[in-house]
Amino acid sequence: MTLVLVAGMSLMGAVDATPVAAEASWMPLRDLAKPRPIQVGTAIKHQALEKDPAYAAMLIREYDLVTPENALKWAVLRPGRVAFDFGRADVLVNFAITNNLQIRGHTLCWNLDQHLPPWLLEGRYTPKESRRLLRRHVQAVVGRYKGRVACWDVVNEAVSNDPRKPLLADGFWKRSLGPDYIDLAFQWAHAADPQALLFYNDYDVGDPMGTKSDRIYELVRGLVQRQVPIHGVGLQMHCRLSQPPDEDSLRANIARLTRLGLQVHITELDVGLEGGSGPLTEQLEQQAGVYATVTRAAMDNPQCTALVTWGFTDKWGNTHRNKRLGKPTGTPTHLLPFDREYRPKPAAWAIAKALKGEAR
Ligand code: XIL
Repeated sequence: MTLVLVAGMSLMGAVDATPVAAEASWMPLRDLAKPRPIQVGTAIKHQALEKDPAYAAMLIREYDLVTPENALKWAVLRPGRVAFDFGRADVLVNFAITNNLQIRGHTLCWNLDQHLPPWLLEGRYTPKESRRLLRRHVQAVVGRYKGRVACWDVVNEAVSNDPRKPLLADGFWKRSLGPDYIDLAFQWAHAADPQALLFYNDYDVGDPMGTKSDRIYELVRGLVQRQVPIHGVGLQMHCRLSQPPDEDSLRANIARLTRLGLQVHITELDVGLEGGSGPLTEQLEQQAGVYATVTRAAMDNPQCTALVTWGFTDKWGNTHRNKRLGKPTGTPTHLLPFDREYRPKPAAWAIAKALKGEAR
């Protein structure tokens, strides 16, 4: 949809022809979340906004927060050592602001090599040069969107999953700058926009009081103790039916993080059907149960201030899980709350109920 790509374009008055708009009993998620209040958001894809007018219309109606899924990552923003390409990011940020959506900036410093550009990995930079590269990146990106991006995932996935290994996972930034890279990234981000809320974001919190969650807690407690400017923790929550999160331990995990004086955001919630049983209709009910669990746990704690899913419609669902499962890339995914025709799935109704505080 070329119209969306015009900076400053508003879709506020656009006709919404998605089926969900026609469901008499459906209320937009953002309206249901207002009394709490908790922000409800979704990751957004540049190509979907560009090609699919219904995607934009539904996004604006249902949500009040968006996370550009890839547009603010090094792989997209940094074609070279000196160059920045803000093209896609600018389009998404302008779209969001024009349409009254807040933005979660994702992510300034992702330690995993496979998500960093080859020129960086292969550049043979000295520790001093790497430090300068990260500082310049954080300053430039946060500085550009100062006052427009409400919060940033400053550091993503820094903690090792393997309990036998040191707390901080191996990766480019740790190798180049040492473990201080985390404190530094937060300090630079804070200097670039003192009003922005700064988050540490990580995955595999499906066993919320398990080893990984303990390690994340240990990391952020250290940041708080050292008075590093951190304001929150993002729990990704990429779930699957084979390992559904336990509601009580998720609540307890959120509670201990908020006792550190931090906010919690659920940042990347989706629920794969791996491990589900029975026909698809039953699996979609099981999936709704997981969405309900996470939404209820989020609603339970006032310091949990945002619930963000990693996309909202299966029409634009991620296919990387298909690859992992050995299925063809084109196979439809079922990860998200709305189906390929934008109709609410049981998952969407379950989120809605939990936002209203109703038991399932
Ligand atoms: C994923 C995107 O969904 C993919 O499109 C991309 O190819 C790789 O990154 N944790 C994160 C997200 O913090 O940025 C990841 O997003 C999913 C896992």
